[in-house]
Amino acid sequence: MKNLILVAGATGNLGQRICRELIKLNVPVRGLIREGSNPEKVTALEQLGVDVFKVNLYNEQELVGACNGVSCVVSALAGLHDVIVGTQTKLLNAAVSAGVPRFIPSDFSTDFTTMPVGDNRNFDWRKEFEEKLNNAPIQATSIFNGAFADILRYNIPLYNTKEKSIAYYDNKAGWKIDFTTMDDTAAFTARAALDNTTPRYLRIASFQVSPDELISLSQKNKGSNFQLINKGSMESFSAYNKAQRAANPEGENQLYPKWQQAQYLYSMFLVHHLKLNNNRYEGINWSPVEHNI
Ligand SMILES: NC(=O)c1ccc[n+]([C@@H]2O[C@H](COP(=O)([O-])OP(=O)(O)OC[C@H]3O[C@@H](n4cnc5c(N)ncnc54)[C@H](OP(=O)(O)O)[C@@H]3O)[C@@H](O)[C@H]2O)c1
Repeated sequence: MKNLILVAGATGNLGQRICRELIKLNVPVRGLIREGSNPEKVTALEQLGVDVFKVNLYNEQELVGACNGVSCVVSALAGLHDVIVGTQTKLLNAAVSAGVPRFIPSDFSTDFTTMPVGDNRNFDWRKEFEEKLNNAPIQATSIFNGAFADILRYNIPLYNTKEKSIAYYDNKAGWKIDFTTMDDTAAFTARAALDNTTPRYLRIASFQVSPDELISLSQKNKGSNFQLINKGSMESFSAYNKAQRAANPEGENQLYPKWQQAQYLYSMFLVHHLKLNNNRYEGINWSPVEHNI
């Protein structure tokens, strides 16, 4: 089958980068947009050379039409349960109906496969969709990239340049955390979309770095002395996050409420990649930690 990649969420941060990487590889890209998509982002996609395809996501026939002739669907959708489970299921059903052989869901996260349900709401939705995908007659590949590296610039407790502090939990000061830039994630995803032999899960990281290493890196590269802070046990962190979620139900309608951000941090200290698939494709220049702090 000839390559034709359908990117859902093409107007998004990650989605447009995936489109760009595919175009660089001279692969035809169909970018799904909808009525309310930002016109400037749509124009930017057109200028890249993306074949922009407007659909009503609630119209099954239109979605099947969008999937016709497609060799791989890549979803970079972002949203709440209605998007991650609802819209992605519609897209999956349309892909199966149109005979698309491969599907890459919008996981792009820490490897949630070994995480218990209840510790990260946004991952629980991905787990729910994972089950549907695993039962569908289509070859599925999830890409786990850990955290996007740009979060190191947001003064999260793990790396707070304002307070010059670096947090860790339990005895995990030496625990390696997976980070991948959005550009590296997009470059790898574009290659995976063209690879018919991908396994169910691929794990990548631009770099893996521990709180201890962040301390010495910030001293060496920035001449700054950061304080390493033990924030207690993982058990109490999990309990705290659950209590915060229960106390702030308005966050259920938000993508990144405070307690969800804390759940991401918890996940970063709970699971990490033991083996990376970084070398699966040649020519990806993985961004080093020094460029991201
Ligand atoms: N690992 C990490 O640290 C990390 C961090 C951030 C994001 N991510 C993940 O990366 C993926 C992409 O995220 P992003 O930040 O690139 O997202 P984004 O910039 O917010 O883009 C979201 C995309 O989804 C589309 N979309 C949103 N709601 C929709 C709906 N109801 N129906 C149809 N399309 C809808 C948007 O289309 P319109 O333009 O039409 O609205 C847009 O194209 C997600 O899986 C996200 O969870 C991972």
